[in-house]
Amino acid sequence: MSKPTAQEFRIAFDGVDLRRGERCIFDGLSCGFPRGRISVVLGASGAGKSTLIRMIGGLQKPDSGSIRLAGQDITAFSERELFKIRDRIGMLFQGGALLDSMTVAENVALPLCEHTRLSDADIQAEVNRRLVAVGLAETGHLYPRELSGGMSRRAALARAIVMDPEILLVDEPFSGLDPINVRRIEMLLVDLNQHLDLTLIVTSHHMASSLRMADRLIFMVDGIAIAGSPADLLKSEDERIVEFLNAESDRFAERHELDVTPLLRRRGDA
Ligand SMILES: Nc1ncnc2c1ncn2[C@@H]1O[C@H](COP(=O)(O)OP(=O)(O)O)[C@@H](O)[C@H]1O
Ligand SMILES: [Mg+2]
Repeated sequence: MSKPTAQEFRIAFDGVDLRRGERCIFDGLSCGFPRGRISVVLGASGAGKSTLIRMIGGLQKPDSGSIRLAGQDITAFSERELFKIRDRIGMLFQGGALLDSMTVAENVALPLCEHTRLSDADIQAEVNRRLVAVGLAETGHLYPRELSGGMSRRAALARAIVMDPEILLVDEPFSGLDPINVRRIEMLLVDLNQHLDLTLIVTSHHMASSLRMADRLIFMVDGIAIAGSPADLLKSEDERIVEFLNAESDRFAERHELDVTPLLRRRGDA
């Protein structure tokens, strides 16, 4: 399999270190996220997935190393410069809630109201277009409390893409959803990636979704990243990857009463 070259990476981390007190969160982290593709970031709880997302969004600076977006090292950026690049990055954080006091349409409109000078009519049109894109046409007048879990996640996605970002960062989009909604959100993310030509970066614990949707998997462990195609990672001999994949597939199988052994080479062959 040919590996993407540096130019094909929309975002590239190189030798990124981050310490918090005694704890080393990243220790020479290097990895890349291919342009226009779906990268899924995997790893145990506390491995640094959310921190990685926050770094790409310029919300957290590393102690050392570089993070390149379109060739520019954003670790050297001022707050003002970071503010500008954030216009091109959509972010949906874990539990990234809608504001309860506003309707769905008002929530989705928020970034446009804050970052653009569009007229009310234009904003309304943009909002409607995004609600249609996430399958929530005709729900703009509802309040967040009137939405199901899956619908809330869709509305939050509509808000994350309303500025037409080139990069979309989505932290744990499947957490707390039932299997049907997991599948729907997964298909929606794939659809958005294809139709909007987004560079999509998703963190997830959800193995089945990750294997289905990822062009590239980035496995976070011990402060570094091990990256490759899903097939590469499934074939990996690295004990840490094998252990994680087996544990996650067990958890998945328990939840859904399935036998996922065929997904994993190891257990049958060992
Ligand atoms: N601002 C912070 N201050 C101190 N520790 C942090 C901070 N942000 C994250 N951490 C620590 O960094 C590690 C990685 O966290 P996180 O990125 O949330 O992991 P994940 O999303 O993979 O569960 C955890 O040990 C967490 O406690
Ligand atoms: Mg997290």
